[in-house]
Amino acid sequence: MNKTLLVKLKVNGEWIEAWAPERQTLLDFIREELNLTGTKKGCGAGDCGSCVVLIDGRATTTCTLSVSKVQGREITTIEGLANGTHLHPIQEAFIEAGAIQCGYCTPGMVLQAKDLLDRVPDPTEQEIKEAIDGHICRCTGYIKIVEAIRLASRKSKKVGAGIKGGLKP
Ligand code: FES
Ligand code: FES
Repeated sequence: MNKTLLVKLKVNGEWIEAWAPERQTLLDFIREELNLTGTKKGCGAGDCGSCVVLIDGRATTTCTLSVSKVQGREITTIEGLANGTHLHPIQEAFIEAGAIQCGYCTPGMVLQAKDLLDRVPDPTEQEIKEAIDGHICRCTGYIKIVEAIRLASRKSKKVGAGIKGGLKP
């Protein structure tokens, strides 16, 4: 019998409760129960990075992670990054650098960049490449994605507000 459980999570700044099949992945819970479809399903095996969200601030793949393992944690999806109609500086940087083509990898890449820049505000090119190592992009060739993350780092220094400035309070 497929058991259900009551899931309680903080998602994009708000506590939510929802019933879910006990073995449902966090990815399917986010997309199907919460209807937050910005998080993408690619390989379904933890190898492509398209399903990355922030869990307690750290970039984490969600396609093999059971929702039962993240009770009470804080989740940020790509929908939680912009502040109203204002894009987060990392999102702006991806657009300005031309780092988005089909966009399928972009939510995971942007959230991975947020994790990196929150910990390392001025990363080297090597640190950026290592951070996005687990993400597959079929379109851009990665060079513009690395440029976008460097641009986001410069933007955050310029405004002096830190890269967290675009997050909802
Ligand atoms: S869909 Fe999760 S890593 Fe590919
Ligand atoms: S922009 Fe298409 S997969 Fe990255």
